[in-house]
Amino acid sequence: MLNAAILASGNGSNAQRMFDLTAAGTLSMNIRLVLCNRPGARVLERARQAGLPSLCLDHTTFPDREHFDRAMIAAIREAGADTIVLAGFMRMLTPEFLHAFPGRVINIHPALLPSFPGVHGSADANAYGVKISGCTVHFVDEIMDHGAVIAQAAVPHLDGEDADALQQRIHTMEHRIYPQALQWLAENRLVLEGRHIRLLPGNRPLATPPDNALVWPPLEAGF
Ligand code: GRF
Repeated sequence: MLNAAILASGNGSNAQRMFDLTAAGTLSMNIRLVLCNRPGARVLERARQAGLPSLCLDHTTFPDREHFDRAMIAAIREAGADTIVLAGFMRMLTPEFLHAFPGRVINIHPALLPSFPGVHGSADANAYGVKISGCTVHFVDEIMDHGAVIAQAAVPHLDGEDADALQQRIHTMEHRIYPQALQWLAENRLVLEGRHIRLLPGNRPLATPPDNALVWPPLEAGF
């Protein structure tokens, strides 16, 4: 069972999906804290509605990144969380933060890394004119959008589809691969070999493959 702090800055649809799957018992994760850096962000309301502990630390009220991250470390430890789930958290983390939770910080990025890292990954991929976009769940290291890849979903651009519709289909895949990756972590099935992650076999049946998308490793039932 993971003891997680979910860090988010905005809407929180990925966080919401985790709230739902933990409540359903599909995802073996205690959500100890929902931590947000933007007052008024929708994710805070979502946490309140789900009855989960939440905290807003407004980064603009701290003198620098180091002080902000130290306050986050303290709050996360106090809440009893040891796994950090970044779900649309729009702040770079300091090395001090990463050292506080070694190998336990995970992120989702709305592009197929290593292509299109950065805050506008999805829009950049679209502007470039790629035929296949997607999303990536990865461990976090000190370089932005760079850590070892856990899972990816490739989402092809459909003829005549506008950017919003494409964005939505990528988001839908985020909502599937992120909880699945966390469940693999909860089951201790992710073995890190250098930059490569080997997934140990499980015994759940596989889910129906998503339409028009390729997910690797394959999703299991419930995700
Ligand atoms: C997602 O696109 C995620 O890939 C990126 O931030 C966005 C968060 O969306 N890191 P939401 O707040 O979970 O809806």
